[in-house]
Amino acid sequence: MIQLYDKRFKLFLKEEEILAAVKKIAEEIAEDYKNQVPIFVGVLNGAFMFVSDFLKHYPYPCEVSFVKLSSYRGLTSTGIVETLLDVPDNIEGRSVIILEDIIDTGRTLQELVHLFNHTNVKDFKIASLFYKSEIYNGEYAIDYFGMEIPNSFIVGYGLDYKEQGRNLRNVYELYPDQMINLVLFGKPGAGKGTQAEFLKEEYSLIHISTGDVFRYNIKNKTKLGQLAQSYMDKGDLVPDEVTIKMLRDEVEKHPDSKGFIFDGFPRTVAQAQALDNLMESKEMKINATIALDADEEILLERLINRGKESGRPDDQNADRIRNRFEEYNTKTAPLQSYYESQSKFHSIDGVGAIEEITERIKGVIEGLRLVEQ
Ligand code: IMP
Ligand code: MG
Repeated sequence: MIQLYDKRFKLFLKEEEILAAVKKIAEEIAEDYKNQVPIFVGVLNGAFMFVSDFLKHYPYPCEVSFVKLSSYRGLTSTGIVETLLDVPDNIEGRSVIILEDIIDTGRTLQELVHLFNHTNVKDFKIASLFYKSEIYNGEYAIDYFGMEIPNSFIVGYGLDYKEQGRNLRNVYELYPDQMINLVLFGKPGAGKGTQAEFLKEEYSLIHISTGDVFRYNIKNKTKLGQLAQSYMDKGDLVPDEVTIKMLRDEVEKHPDSKGFIFDGFPRTVAQAQALDNLMESKEMKINATIALDADEEILLERLINRGKESGRPDDQNADRIRNRFEEYNTKTAPLQSYYESQSKFHSIDGVGAIEEITERIKGVIEGLRLVEQ
């Protein structure tokens, strides 16, 4: 996932796939024009990378030139196409092949056809790397294209969003604007904190770990901290009112957030309902709950090791840890059906390399249909 200005984009095509499409067009055109010396006319700015890679795959004599038009501002076409750099002047009687980065509504193309109508070219063809066939409504049939793509906004490989993103080697697709609010589940030691660190970077989210907030308060001996301490010492959960109040404060601290990761809360169905109410009061909602699944014996070992390193007392005693597992099993497990009934529950294999687990979670997030249907 990448961010340009206020927008998030997710990977759509890898460099290899793009280059394969470029090569395919070059070979098709080479076959048709091998007995001539065509002029390739790239459409700036977007087509510069395409033209460059195209020419590397074009094996016969040819010339290259550029025109520059402009119609897009940000995400939507303005419909006004200006000519900023005109047709080359040596094209009379020549075969001209336009190299476009992308064909969307077809307005730019229409303007190009119009521009070249005034010239006495022998032959005029259009080649576009990407072609949004669903929304193209021009009359001119596209002669060559690398790949048909759905009607979404893409950046990279020459294509821009507000002039940025042209330098990216891969192509990325606009990701819906909605917030991503996640709940991370897992028994103690399942790796929620570790994964949350990656996810918050990747999706620009705010990570709210109730455990961390409690520990901070405890360390600083705040009123809430002392209260929470007394419960945590026994391996029990902190009362809901205290926790939800604290969460509300955390959410309110970040009014412009792109989303939140809730880690360590909710732990009961009652808390899940309270969280849903909190979300609703803010016109937000939980999009997905992701459970990191792992065997208790593996977790016990992880926790004991973590306890040795961090000195966290609740991580050093096997009985207390088992008590927390038990707590999770009896109170938290019913949350699964709560979230399943909302079709939000996703279980992830939490055993393996950290990056592998991150990839699994990203798969879930990027598969979410965030746009309301
Ligand atoms: P059309 O005139 O609507 O066909 O749009 C063509 C021009 O709009 C292209 O040359 C691009 O500059 C721009 N454009 C269209 N779709 C996209 C996109 O998905 N990403 C970036 N630019 C685009
Ligand atoms: Mg362009």
